[in-house]
Amino acid sequence: MQLGRKTLTAVVTGTLGVTLLAGAAATSWAAPAKTPAPAAAHPGARGVPDPTTATLRQLARHTKLEIGTAIDTAALRNDATYREIAAREFSSVTPENVMKWYATEPQRGQFDFTEAEQLMAFAAANRQKVRGHVLVWHSQLPAWLTEGTWTRAELRSILRQHILTVAGHFRGRIWAWDVVNEAFNDDGTLRDTIWLRTIGPSYIADAFRWAHQADPKAILFYNDYNVEGINAKSNAVYALLRQLKREGVPVEGFGAQGHLATQYGFPRDVLENLRRFGRLGLATAITEADVRIVLPVDNAERWAQAAGYSLMLESCLLERSCISYTVWGFTDRYQWVPGVFPEEGEAAIYDVNYNPKPARDAMARDLALAPHSGRRG
Ligand code: G3I
Repeated sequence: MQLGRKTLTAVVTGTLGVTLLAGAAATSWAAPAKTPAPAAAHPGARGVPDPTTATLRQLARHTKLEIGTAIDTAALRNDATYREIAAREFSSVTPENVMKWYATEPQRGQFDFTEAEQLMAFAAANRQKVRGHVLVWHSQLPAWLTEGTWTRAELRSILRQHILTVAGHFRGRIWAWDVVNEAFNDDGTLRDTIWLRTIGPSYIADAFRWAHQADPKAILFYNDYNVEGINAKSNAVYALLRQLKREGVPVEGFGAQGHLATQYGFPRDVLENLRRFGRLGLATAITEADVRIVLPVDNAERWAQAAGYSLMLESCLLERSCISYTVWGFTDRYQWVPGVFPEEGEAAIYDVNYNPKPARDAMARDLALAPHSGRRG
């Protein structure tokens, strides 16, 4: 076990070396990722399945880390290969869109859980935990909500009712909820949203209290992007969560989304960052990992991408508070990136034809090398 931790530490150091190189090279990767110590040589001695043939969820079992993916429910309905890989490789799932406000409360007071229940049924059939996503966000809100004019009391009541109804509907079936998503700007100030403008900053604490009231067993997360390393934004999130904990607000987790891009290099202090949130008594998680690439893509970029996935996974594996690592979609066939960053893409761990990429193999390697864990299960 101790040996395992040392082995993985060495791999992290190797990856961080590559990361430094990425930062320097800016847009291109001059050298391939360092090959780590040979992991597959003695798989039996480590007591874990053979990483060259086992699934990610099999390889993760001894670590007690949930290895998850976002699920596109349209693909789940229409694509048998998608279903097969989603069931085989992952021990937890997150609905990519169907638990968002526009889907669950399309008209005021009229709730629709049809698609979300399809996801729940798939997860139950495959013994997968569900990360609920998302109760409070500024995006993908229905028009009735964004186009209405609300007093503070009205909007607070709408938010309360939404959280109590949605979290209450799934009570006991959701392992962890992203309660509040993306409330900060990159400079650490609170984001100007309908919630902040109309209710004020207290909406955040209230959201956690209402979510806890509706589903006391779910682990309640604050979730954001660009907070993987230590920077102005993660410092602000840290200060807020520390304050909320002091006030007894039931915030229980910190989620770093993990949307990286090879062209910008990767943060070097992911482990240190997760660790400080863990010391607050919070669970931590990588909730939406992907690593996008400027198109067209070559093999060096695919290795750079693998290093990004690996850096986040290794950091998570080395930090006891880190309870799950979720990729934001596992195949380039259904990927949000091109819709937002037209010049970029191929961000997932399987290509459009479901061939595993170096990133998928790097994850298998990291899980196989990970120590047996004392993390909370
Ligand atoms: O539902 C409509 C459909 O009726 C219409 O025909 C189609 C045409 O474009 O659009 C559909 O809506 C799309 C929706 O996903 C559902 O598929 C939107 O256009 C599209 O913009 C939306 O994108 C989602 C995005 O959040 C919205 O901001 C992505 O799928 C989803 O992966 C992404 O996920 C977010 C996380 O929730 C939070 N963190 C960042 C992450 C990536 O942006």
